[in-house]
Amino acid sequence: MENKKYGHFDDASREYVITDPKTPWPWINYLGNEDFFSLISNTAGGYSFYKDAKFRRLTRYRYNNVPMDNGGRYFYIKDGDTVWNPGWKPCKTPLDSYECHHGMSYTRITSAKSGIEASVLFFVPLKSWCEVQKLTLRNTTGERRCLKLFSFEEWCLWNAATDMENFQRNFSTGEVEIEGSVIYHKTEYRERRNHYAYYSVNVPINGYDTDRETFVGLYNGFDCPDAVMEGRPRNSHAHGWSPIASHYIEVELAPGESKDFVFVLGYVENEQDEKFIAPKVINKRKALETISRFDTTEKVDAAFDELKSYWDTLLDIFVVDTGNDKLDRMVNIWNQYQCMVTFNMSRSASFFESGIGRGMGFRDSNQDLVGFVHQIPERARQRIIDIASTQFPDGGCYHQYQPLTKRGNNDIGGGFNDDPCWLIFGTVAYIKETGDFSILDEPVPFDNQPGSEVSLMEHLKVSFDHVVNNLGPHQLPLIGRADWNDCLNLNCFSWDPNESFQTTENKTEGSKAESLMIAGLFVVTGKEYVALCRRIGNEAEATRAQQHVDAMISAVKRDGWDGEWYLRAYDYYGRKIGSNENEEGKIFIESQGWCTMAGIGLDEGMVAMSLDSVKKYLECEHGIVLNNPAFTKYIYEYGEISSYPEGYKENAGIFCHNNPWVIIGETVAGRGDDAWSHYRKILPSYVEEKYSTLHKVEPYVNCQMVAGKDAARPGEGKNSWLTGTAAWMWLTVSQYILGIKPDYDGILIDPCLPQTAQEYSVKRKFRDAEYRIRITNPKGVSKGVLCMEIDGAPVEGNVIRYEPGHHEVTVVMG
Ligand code: GLC
Ligand code: GLC
Repeated sequence: MENKKYGHFDDASREYVITDPKTPWPWINYLGNEDFFSLISNTAGGYSFYKDAKFRRLTRYRYNNVPMDNGGRYFYIKDGDTVWNPGWKPCKTPLDSYECHHGMSYTRITSAKSGIEASVLFFVPLKSWCEVQKLTLRNTTGERRCLKLFSFEEWCLWNAATDMENFQRNFSTGEVEIEGSVIYHKTEYRERRNHYAYYSVNVPINGYDTDRETFVGLYNGFDCPDAVMEGRPRNSHAHGWSPIASHYIEVELAPGESKDFVFVLGYVENEQDEKFIAPKVINKRKALETISRFDTTEKVDAAFDELKSYWDTLLDIFVVDTGNDKLDRMVNIWNQYQCMVTFNMSRSASFFESGIGRGMGFRDSNQDLVGFVHQIPERARQRIIDIASTQFPDGGCYHQYQPLTKRGNNDIGGGFNDDPCWLIFGTVAYIKETGDFSILDEPVPFDNQPGSEVSLMEHLKVSFDHVVNNLGPHQLPLIGRADWNDCLNLNCFSWDPNESFQTTENKTEGSKAESLMIAGLFVVTGKEYVALCRRIGNEAEATRAQQHVDAMISAVKRDGWDGEWYLRAYDYYGRKIGSNENEEGKIFIESQGWCTMAGIGLDEGMVAMSLDSVKKYLECEHGIVLNNPAFTKYIYEYGEISSYPEGYKENAGIFCHNNPWVIIGETVAGRGDDAWSHYRKILPSYVEEKYSTLHKVEPYVNCQMVAGKDAARPGEGKNSWLTGTAAWMWLTVSQYILGIKPDYDGILIDPCLPQTAQEYSVKRKFRDAEYRIRITNPKGVSKGVLCMEIDGAPVEGNVIRYEPGHHEVTVVMG
């Protein structure tokens, strides 16, 4: 397949600039950082929601639509007989020029047609419950021009799930109010909702529409709405059916003149007794307040500058200079940005996650926060407490919880036996970054039950013990419903297509199903738990825990080694999975990743052998596949994993999330060339250069899954943005390759480099200190710090002990 690029990176502006609207898949960006969020594609498709993409969906979006990505915030410009959109869609009128700049929490689309230039800046101002859209129209000709401008948004009736199914009700509930240049959406506000949404513009309007069928025409698409095509708004008032918001503005532009229009899409909550100012008339005070904060170009520009400096500050915490643009831009910009987005969104809303499916995952969120904790540690702290509050007294966990209520999600339940370990993983990362041990004393309930509070440290203990108390016949961890791999369902034997593999558990009693992935994860996080106990002076607990860790290491060496690699699991009957004895699925990535990270059998050569087997059997041109050979048929004792066609998802797809585990394993073994070569394969900027077309999804972020070597089109990406890959790529590159590792006492310097790496420098803000670290590698080694100086004074070892202030550090490898 010939590679065509659809844009380019602009590192100075921290943007990806798309120059062709017909990307191989909509390439999206995220607006908003705390409460109000929007998804926006390169053709202005997408939607907005407040906090929860399921329960507070503001604008409607139809997934899997034809044409793709239909629905969004659209501006129609009617210029004589021509109607066009700055974002090209939905009219798809050929444009004279088009550029979409996806930046840090903003998107700017600029295009031109017949001498009129339109530029729209979309962003969610900090601390605001709204999306601002600043449209600039400019007449680049020498003649006076008269244009007709229509805005367009379609309201979602709040609950994104019922909005798409309960039409017998939905078609009767819709209500709007129109006052001045503001259109208010107040469906269900008369009853239990205390919130409404609005769409405003900062100029007087010449008309409007709020009823979709009247505006569009029942048999039309968004590409030729009647009102726009005829250049005549209907001033329609929606009663039920499908409420929309469209402003109509007549625009006159003198030669060379340009005009700004500020549209605000916002959300408001009112107290019960302040909902109305008169019967049926909603209280608009808060909406008008917000609108007035953004009613001039100057105010909008100032808010945009604030957003920019917010990102300047966030991205100034870790800055690397290696001289390799492709590496630097991912580390300094896009990887960190994606970490923020995954932290905010978990797995809820993307162009693959519909925003109605999942809450926050216990394991997912713990991993996400590790990629984010250096940016806003206070938010990571809160997240840890929220997550731990859903845990059960025996250490077990709800697999997911709802962001709006912060309660465990009963529909999914628990029993994923890797979950508890991740709480240790997340908490330790937080303390190492911040030095804030006080989080361990924080009272945290079980299952959100008031009165059940124990310290967070106690939660870590029950997490650790949950593994200890759930060992199988080989003294390896019982897998439960599944471990990290949601699709390895060893206790769900299902012949019923209406059953969920994840929630059906019909074979737990007497199960011998054990997981080597959890074994490795337990050793890694167990060692951390031991170290933490020592730190806080609990020597007895440290000793007790260490015995369990040692026992696990022995169990893996004894019953978890297949000869050339680590086994993956034992099934319900106690038979091996991921063994040379198996016909398919002889080797799996997860246990190779975790057991090598844990360094199990390092001295006996197991780690190196396992990593070599990964290269031999799992590595391919586009990354490392999950298992090999792929399953060619459904194995009902294994569950969902074998439901996927070969090369996709958990059946031998390149599941990017777990590639970093192997990469970190390579760094444990000190094999810097191998670590780098695995890392590069899934690094978006490298992929962009060679495979933009094949890869299909956004070239500036990682996706969850790339089709593996057994697939029809190896290298094709899917499920972009919301993946644990973001945090793991960050951990891998910042801590294990570049070797800047936060630790309790300071920063451990322990790079693992390709031998060709000569030198680089890192600026790292850490607690109240700022370190400028320059690392040189005169002998071309992969690992090992020869000597180190802090502020000109030589230090023993490779730890920078934390001290507030500015410090210059030089490190020589060798
Ligand atoms: C998805 C889930 C994650 C799981 C992974 C592997 O990414 O969000 O929790 O570990 O798939 O199944
Ligand atoms: C499916 C996916 C898996 C994901 C899970 C979440 O099983 O294959 O990746 O983690 O759904 O429920």
